[in-house]
Amino acid sequence: MVCIRPATIDDLMQMQRCNLLCLPENYQLKYYLYHILSWPQLLQVAEDYDGKIVGYVLAKMEEDASEPHGHITSVAVARTHRKLGLATKLMNATHKAMEEVFGAKYVSLHVRETNKVAVHLYTMTLGYEIYDKEGKYYADGEDAYEMRKYFGASRPALAKKAAALTAAVTGTAI
Ligand SMILES: CC(C)(COP(=O)(O)OP(=O)(O)OC[C@H]1O[C@@H](n2cnc3c(N)ncnc32)[C@H](O)[C@@H]1OP(=O)(O)O)[C@@H](O)C(=O)NCCC(=O)NCCS
Repeated sequence: MVCIRPATIDDLMQMQRCNLLCLPENYQLKYYLYHILSWPQLLQVAEDYDGKIVGYVLAKMEEDASEPHGHITSVAVARTHRKLGLATKLMNATHKAMEEVFGAKYVSLHVRETNKVAVHLYTMTLGYEIYDKEGKYYADGEDAYEMRKYFGASRPALAKKAAALTAAVTGTAI
């Protein structure tokens, strides 16, 4: 039995471990601390019955932006616990806190162009749209999609380029 709950300071090392096992983008512990001290409601973990952290989402608010919005810094689920809906639940819990606690109008993130599972999770499961493609965004030279999901009815019309990108990647009609 896995429960989704807000992270505490005591979870940070296990979150970092999960990140190291799942992704090439890694962060020092002080970056996790910065997130939890600034936006504690936005860090969520999936905890297994034995107390082991098997998934996390690390997120923040972009405070200098004209429109308040959240940003997903990192999300991952341990290989042993994938395809159980955990990432979907973790992301939804963070989205809710962004909107309700911080008044976010939308949430943004970057994802590797070739990360098909994550692209599916964001676009097809969670309703993100592709706003742009950023060339050589990652340290190894891979391109990133910049994605956004607007909360409530506040979504502005998608620019033509963004609509075309989203349609091409998801296989849907514009
Ligand atoms: C991407 C990741 C977080 C998804 O976690 P998860 O808990 O397995 O995702 P969920 O169970 O919530 O599944 C979400 C959707 O993706 C689909 N999915 C998940 N893994 C899949 C796979 N290996 N193949 C095909 N579809 C998959 C699910 O079927 C579901 O789709 P649906 O809503 O249409 O049914 C996980 O694979 C992971 O940690 N990957 C490595 C880290 C990573 O890439 N993070 C994202 C960085 S941007």
